[in-house]
Amino acid sequence: MRWSLFISVVLLVASLSGLQLCSSSDRLDAGESLSDNQIIVSAGGNFEFGFFSPTNSTSNLYAGIWYAKLSVRKIVWVANRENPVTNHPGILKISNDGNLVVLDSAGDLIWSSNITSHYSINGTQALLLDTGNLKLIHGDHDSSSIVLWQSFDFPTDTLLPNMMLWSNIKTKTAKSIISWKNEYDPFTGNFTFGIDPVFNYQFIITRGSKRYWRSQLWTGNTFSAVFANSFYLSFQTDDQWNNLTLQASDVSSNLKLSYNGTLDSFDWSLSSNQWTITSDTSAHTCDSYALCGPFGICDYGASTSQCRCLHGFEPKIPEDWGRKLFHGGCVRHNSLSCNSSDGFLLLNDMKLPDHAVVDRNVVNISHCRTICLKNCSCIAHSFSDTTVDNLRFIGCFLWFDELVDLGIFPLDSGLDLYVRLANLAASESGGMRKVVIVVIMITSLLFTFICIALVYLFLKRRRIKNERFNRLNLASYSEDIQMEVFDLPVFNYNVVLTATNNFSDSNKIGQGGFGKVYIGKLPDGSLLAVKRLSRNSGQGSEEFRNEVTVIGKLQHRNLVGLVGFCTYGEERILIYEYMPNNSLCSFVFDDRKRLLLDWAMRFDIIKGIARGLIYLHQDSRLRVIHRDLKASNILLDKDWNPRISDFGMARIFGGDQKQANTNRVVGTYGYMSPEYAMKGLFSVKSDVYSYGVLVLEIVSGIRNTSGDNLPESFSSLISYAWHLWNVEKMAEMIDSSICDSCLMNEVTRCIHVGLLCVQDHASNRPTMSSVALMLENHSPLDILPKKPTFTLRADKDNTEVQNPSIVSLNDITITELHGR
Ligand SMILES: *[C@@H]1O[C@H](CO)[C@@H](O)[C@H](O)[C@H]1NC(C)=O
Ligand SMILES: *[C@@H]1O[C@H](CO)[C@@H](O)[C@H](O)[C@H]1NC(C)=O
Ligand SMILES: *[C@@H]1O[C@H](CO)[C@@H](O)[C@H](O)[C@H]1NC(C)=O
Ligand SMILES: *[C@@H]1O[C@H](CO)[C@@H](O)[C@H](O)[C@H]1NC(C)=O
Ligand SMILES: *[C@@H]1O[C@H](CO)[C@@H](O)[C@H](O)[C@H]1NC(C)=O
Ligand SMILES: *[C@@H]1O[C@H](CO)[C@@H](O)[C@H](O)[C@H]1NC(C)=O
Ligand SMILES: *[C@@H]1O[C@H](CO)[C@@H](O)[C@H](O)[C@H]1NC(C)=O
Ligand SMILES: *[C@@H]1O[C@H](CO)[C@@H](O)[C@H](O)[C@H]1NC(C)=O
Ligand SMILES: *[C@@H]1O[C@H](CO)[C@@H](O)[C@H](O)[C@H]1NC(C)=O
Repeated sequence: MRWSLFISVVLLVASLSGLQLCSSSDRLDAGESLSDNQIIVSAGGNFEFGFFSPTNSTSNLYAGIWYAKLSVRKIVWVANRENPVTNHPGILKISNDGNLVVLDSAGDLIWSSNITSHYSINGTQALLLDTGNLKLIHGDHDSSSIVLWQSFDFPTDTLLPNMMLWSNIKTKTAKSIISWKNEYDPFTGNFTFGIDPVFNYQFIITRGSKRYWRSQLWTGNTFSAVFANSFYLSFQTDDQWNNLTLQASDVSSNLKLSYNGTLDSFDWSLSSNQWTITSDTSAHTCDSYALCGPFGICDYGASTSQCRCLHGFEPKIPEDWGRKLFHGGCVRHNSLSCNSSDGFLLLNDMKLPDHAVVDRNVVNISHCRTICLKNCSCIAHSFSDTTVDNLRFIGCFLWFDELVDLGIFPLDSGLDLYVRLANLAASESGGMRKVVIVVIMITSLLFTFICIALVYLFLKRRRIKNERFNRLNLASYSEDIQMEVFDLPVFNYNVVLTATNNFSDSNKIGQGGFGKVYIGKLPDGSLLAVKRLSRNSGQGSEEFRNEVTVIGKLQHRNLVGLVGFCTYGEERILIYEYMPNNSLCSFVFDDRKRLLLDWAMRFDIIKGIARGLIYLHQDSRLRVIHRDLKASNILLDKDWNPRISDFGMARIFGGDQKQANTNRVVGTYGYMSPEYAMKGLFSVKSDVYSYGVLVLEIVSGIRNTSGDNLPESFSSLISYAWHLWNVEKMAEMIDSSICDSCLMNEVTRCIHVGLLCVQDHASNRPTMSSVALMLENHSPLDILPKKPTFTLRADKDNTEVQNPSIVSLNDITITELHGR
């Protein structure tokens, strides 16, 4: 709706300015010519064709096609890119041999379409279409005429919808787009984008003769690849030819390239319906071709992508890695022995390595594996059997020699890769042995504990609480985490007592659902936040285990750091970095303190929380769903950076787990996503929902749950925001205390993103990484949110929810529901 308004304004402006371009036609007939300042305009007014001069001086003239409707001239095609007209004026005409030609003032040939035409030049025309295609045709009727030549067959640096790139592996040639030399010179530059002419299952960008970037392998899926921001690619291959046409939609620079795209399915947006390859294609962190060297992996999910070695490998030259020079890559811990002790390690969500060999005749994964296992030089394999749009793709990809340009993608987007490792079985069973030892230790500990407890019980005739901490559910956590639990500093109980003045009330700084929080001062003067979990609380113990395993393992500047822990008898104590500015809750919803957070700070906070969540959701080693994201769990450090805290409810997801189900729905009203509140289903998208609520709260200063400051007719902040969005009165929602400082387009963007996050269907919600991109980007967002209908409020009957029991502690609401 807003887009169409924008487009009609643009059209209006364009049509007004069009009045000055008197009598422009969409074609050039034989006998006619165009000079410097004359143009032809496509019938619908989308594109113009004529001479232009890209430089500040007017010395060099080029014949080209550009968008007619953009305020900034965007050239999409250049005829004589390597040979400018310097001798003015230039002339464009159909020559006597039936070619479209560019001549200089002396009549010398600068450029020619260079066809051999057998048709009379009477009846030959150059016609500019609304797609941006310039056709040289012969015939009376446009539709039935013969196409002699078309600009779409000779792309320069811009791929327009329905333009085609191709590669032919038989001849090892490809039609690609090539960047301009620089912004002012259309001469062929150093960067080329196209389908890999040697292995046509991928796109590559080359710089000079070197690979600069490579896409994911095409294995029948629509796949994503991270480049600059990110874009999504899909194409089809028939082993010899690949033809690719482009679909672009400019949501945070996402580009969708699709095989044989049609205008019907094309997501048309005026500003960016093309993709241009320019010379400043700065690579995103480690996403430059093979930057991490052989057997090195680029982690695209982490907020600062970094190289690391594949499991079972170590840096070849550790000193170089220390200096962030990764191209030496990694080498094996144990060299392959080529006997039955070799095994394959599964890696999920991978960008598959370069230089694969594909076998399309292998029909199942075990066959693919057998082929690889039989040949000692085969070091990795991947199998794909997918059906997209009735087209089935089966392929067994094999790698020999070395693995280069590997990556690990954020959630859901990669493919499975099996890497051959020596002694895998042995190291696996070694791992198992460790687990067994730990389990035996824990069991004997438990046994001893039970014995002591029984004696104690017998003597004192007192019931001992079931001690959950000792029943660590080791099996559900990876080995890494178990080890790490014991790596955190353990604080002496007496030190904690002294630091908190024996947990005196004057040191108390907060109270949560599971315990009280105290400020602690160490002898050296440093401050800590000490959380003392409620005694005798089963939940407290579980929370303790969670916090230690989850947050003890994570480090990010938007997460609260866990400094250590302490157990003493039944005491369970967690020690965190101290956050002098308390929680977001105490500012955003406080009548006076809200003035302290101006718009710039709030916007930074919104973006910071998003970064923290990206880290939690996409970090490759753990996938953490926070499950209880809310204003009171966002703490502010001394520089007002948001820090996500309280991982008592967090869940770690295994390698390929996307969604989980729980019978015990624990969360906070107003922040719980529909699928979680109703069905106990949680995934990263339930955190996205809570984040959306949080964004709306930060912008408006209104609690989603309370209804304070909310006009009466609205049941929640979400429905209020949706209403204002639809009537385009977003300004009414903004916290009055930030009115002066706010940038309306940023606020609108936040509300837009907030509404995208709180959509009812988890699949419609963006991932946190696209949220971050949307927030950072300046171009308009063209995904519109769907109406959010779900509200769950503490003060309303809701038949969908059974047996809600609510514990309210200050600003903290813990709700326990039972999923159906
Ligand atoms: C054109 O102007 C830009 C700055 O506006 C300058 O950087 C560039 O060098 C100029 N190009 C030429 C060819 O003069
Ligand atoms: C024109 O085409 C002919 C043959 O098709 C080729 O030999 C010649 O190099 C071409 N000239 C230019 C300027 O591309
Ligand atoms: C093209 O048409 C013009 C007039 O319409 C005529 O004089 C000329 O002979 C024609 N040329 C050819 C090659 O048919
Ligand atoms: C293109 O490559 C040449 C030769 O390697 C180099 O001198 C030039 O700086 C490069 N240009 C860009 C924009 O990278
Ligand atoms: C791709 O394009 C080439 C050259 O234009 C053509 O010969 C081939 O048939 C096309 N392949 C497909 C699958 O469309
Ligand atoms: C694209 O698809 C349409 C319809 O599916 C078909 O008619 C057309 O020939 C295809 N074009 C190419 C280049 O494959
Ligand atoms: C495989 O080879 C390695 C080294 O050559 C040897 O140590 C190991 O015992 C062999 N394993 C089996 C199962 O043959
Ligand atoms: C996999 O394919 C091979 C070769 O076609 C066949 O022998 C084998 O039985 C298949 N295995 C399964 C599990 O389908
Ligand atoms: C293993 O594969 C490579 C590459 O395809 C091939 O050259 C070699 O002959 C194969 N070796 C065996 C034993 O099959």
